[in-house]
Formats: sequence, C-alpha cells, structure tokens
Amino acid sequence: MNTSISVDARSIEGKIDRKIYGHFVENMASCVYGGILKNSRRGRPEGPWVVREDLVDHVAKLEPPVIRWPGGLYADGYDWRNGIGPGDSRPLNRNRYWSRYGPLTRVFDPNVFGTDEFLSLCEKLGAEAYLNVNIGTGSAEEAARWVQYVNGASDTTEGARRASNGRAKPYGVRYWGVGNEAYGFWSLSRSKPREYAKRYLEFKHAMEQEDDDLRYVAVGCEPYFNKTWNRAVFDEAASEIDMLSVHIYLPGPERIAGVYYSFAARGGAGVYKAVVASPYEYERRLRAVEETITAATGRSGGATIAFDEWNQWWSPKQLIRPRWKLRDALYVCGMFHMMHRMGSLVEMANIAQLVNVLGVLVTRGDMVARTAIYYPFLMYSTLTGERKLKVETVCRSFDTNRVGGIPPMNDVPLLDCSATLSDDGRKLVLFVINRDDLQDLSADIELGGFDAKGEVEVHVLDGPGIDAENGFASDEVVSVRKSVKDAGDVLPRFKFGAHSVTAMVFGA
Ligand code: AHR
Ligand code: AHR
Repeated sequence: MNTSISVDARSIEGKIDRKIYGHFVENMASCVYGGILKNSRRGRPEGPWVVREDLVDHVAKLEPPVIRWPGGLYADGYDWRNGIGPGDSRPLNRNRYWSRYGPLTRVFDPNVFGTDEFLSLCEKLGAEAYLNVNIGTGSAEEAARWVQYVNGASDTTEGARRASNGRAKPYGVRYWGVGNEAYGFWSLSRSKPREYAKRYLEFKHAMEQEDDDLRYVAVGCEPYFNKTWNRAVFDEAASEIDMLSVHIYLPGPERIAGVYYSFAARGGAGVYKAVVASPYEYERRLRAVEETITAATGRSGGATIAFDEWNQWWSPKQLIRPRWKLRDALYVCGMFHMMHRMGSLVEMANIAQLVNVLGVLVTRGDMVARTAIYYPFLMYSTLTGERKLKVETVCRSFDTNRVGGIPPMNDVPLLDCSATLSDDGRKLVLFVINRDDLQDLSADIELGGFDAKGEVEVHVLDGPGIDAENGFASDEVVSVRKSVKDAGDVLPRFKFGAHSVTAMVFGA
C-alpha cells in the first residue's frame, strides 16, 4: 500500500480552541504542597512553603491557555475564605476531601496557596483561570461572594477586602465550574441529577448578580458511568448551561471496579497498541455526550464540552509519582488530534494534573523533571493554528486487545494526522503520529492550496523505544528535537520514524 497524506488548505473544517491544551491544579497529594510549592522545613505542614521557580519556568514554556483550580473533588469542600489574607491568619485544616484516604492523597491543608496565589500565578503564566465553586459544603451566597472577591470593583465589600490584601484591580476570571462529579457517591456534592440542576441554577443566579459576563460549567457525566444524568440536568437547566463538564480516565475507573492494574508500569507492544489507540474510545464517549447535548438543546448556540479532567489512570501509585513512557506521550498527541476532530464542541480541556498527581511534571526533594507527557504540550500548545484543515490519510492499520476499560479495536490507522492553518492563512502545521512501534513509515505528502516554499521547521517527539521514560537524572530521554529544513527536503515524501510524532511548520 502506498502511504499518503493530503492536506487541503482551502478546506477549513472548523476552529480549534487553544484552551484544549489546558491544565488542572488541585490540593491533592503533592500537586500543590510539595509540587508547585516546596517546603524548606520538610515534614512541617505549616511550611514555610515557597514557589518552585524552576517548575514555573517549565510550565511557562507550555504557554498554558487555562488552568483549573482548586479541584476536583477538593473543590466541593473548599472554603475560599480560609485562603485569603495575611499568611499568619490562615488556618491549618484537615484536607476536607482528601484526608479520608490518608497520607497518600493529602491529610492537611495549610491554606497557603489560596485565591490570590493561584490567580497571580495564572497572570504570570499568561493563562486564563478557571475556578470551581463549592456546592458540597458551601452555599450559593459564599460562591457569589467569591465572585465578588475575584471580579468585583474595589468599592464592593469583597473587592475592598481583595484590595486590602494587596490587589486593587479585579482579576476578571471568566470560567466558573459549579460543583464536581456530583453524580458520584464519592463526591461531597453527590445528588440526583434534577437536584443537582436546581442547585446549579441557585448558584448561577446568585453568582451572576456579581458579574453578568461569566461562563458557567455544569457537572456532566460520561455515559459509561451514568446514561441518564446529562439529559436530566439539561431538562431542568439547558438554556442556562454554557459548558458541560466531562471527566474520563482510562483504563479505569479503578476506584469503582476495585481493580488495580498491576501492569501499569509494564510495557510491551500489546499495552502500547491499546494505549495509543485509546483516544478513539474517548472520542466515542464524547460523541455520546454530544448526542445528548444536540438532542436537548439543538447544536447551534447550545452548550459546549469542558473536558476538564482527562488522562490515563492505572493505579493509585500514579497519584504520587507517575512514570509516563513514550507510549503515553503518543497517547496525549492522539488525544489532541481527537479533540481537533471534535472541533468547537470541545471548548476547553484540562489534563489531570499539572504536577505529581498523574502529572505532566514531577518533583522529588528539590528536583523537578519533565515527564514524557510534558512534551506533547510543548509541541501542540505552541504550534497549533486556529483553523482545522481537511486531511486525508492512506495507510496500513492494526488491531488491539482489551486493556482494562480500553476495548479491543480493529483497523486502527498507523498514521494519525492533523493539520492546522493560522488565522492569517500564512502558517500551516502538519502533525503526524506514527504509531508503528517498530517501523519507520515513508509517506507522500501533498499540500493543496498552499505555497510551501523556503524553510520548514520540523519538530520530532521521540525516544529510544516505546517504553522509554524520563527521570530526575535525565528528563530529555523522551523529548522534542527541532531542526530547520528546506521545503524540498520534506516534500513530496518524508520518512516518519517509528513511534514518533512530527510537526512540520510551513511558512513560519
Ligand atoms: O484528578 C483527580 C480526581 O479525579 C479529581 O479530584 C476528581 O474530580 C476525579 O475523580
Ligand atoms: O466518570 C466516571 C468516573 O468518574 C471516572 O472514570 C472516574 O475516574 C471519575 O471519578
């Protein structure tokens, strides 16, 4: 079979929102305390905690479009009032949600990293903030006051409090989530869907008194877990939902099944194939959510999806320090292509989580390392254009076996391609994942309607093998290497290395 990739720069299939490359920070295990912050008096929960600047520098290079905080499940027990004001006035609490699982997930909550700390970090990184209000132990009034603290003018009660805490100018946070996984028995906000929808409306109506230009995210559920939740929530509140939150972790959900996948750290071709193909299963589940949204609201102007927690989750150990492989980096790139295919339906996505907890970055003592799944963000977040182009790929395919919640699949294409164009039409980027674990693949490339002359940047994400990992001694075993070539070197035929991801930037 002749392998070929044809891109048509005249055929724009939709928009890509950069917010799909978003992140998520929760006060869980060592994401915040021990991750973003380090403690110079180890073992003393009260600190002093200081920001790890080297970690922040790594995050800055990802140009993060949006960051979600403070949870997750933690959000539905979080009292924002504990996390403002002078350090010595902030209580040292038990972590309202995660202490139930003991030291593994975080027992204490020093409240050092609060609203101003999070929002200043977002500003420094140039990221939008996405805050999640507490509908579990909190009230609508408390949530509205939080909106006032964050976005209110300094002549409002809470705005004045913010100013006296050193920040006169409102932050202007636009994205607000209302509750987290309220469908789950494990959540502090657990409820029936109609009860949830009523609570959602109560909170939203109180919050919009403080700011009438917010985008609200309601708790949605992937149909695999609960088939009727989304429809019932829409029946009550459809016209007032801007975005529906969806969380998917494969091959889980291990908590629910009570099964731990002992082959988490194990590699090999069988697991590799299932993992790199798994974005199609996420797509299937998101399409099912799309159907409900369409049926309930009609597509145009209806709610979009906030895919605000996603990742692979194999075992509890990964909550402490995940060991991501090159395989997992290819999976993340496949997830990005999947979201490109979903178009403007996925308005935002947030990988769970930024540091240590299934993290993109990991820490140990004073050290920070970029895991294999850091590099897909580095590549896509900085290179993707605003418009999605039509791509046709002809290539061989493969079959996979079941791995946990990842079902067996047939005819998975070896090459997964996505192409984007900048808004001004001058920069075209072609992303190609070669999922073949053993062989390089040469492909004929045709760029229709685009004058590809001159220099081409070629970025290649790869490592020495499918199971290659980064560590503290070297966090560039899996990494991205950039070279500059001439258009004539990459067109009309290019060889894509086995188990690699290539981004070709034309017209840069
Ligand atoms: O990301 C870890 C946890 O997983 C989040 O707190 C929760 O929302 C999900 O169940
Ligand atoms: O959405 C169902 C389950 O909710 C996820 O798979 C689980 O990890 C999350 O908490």
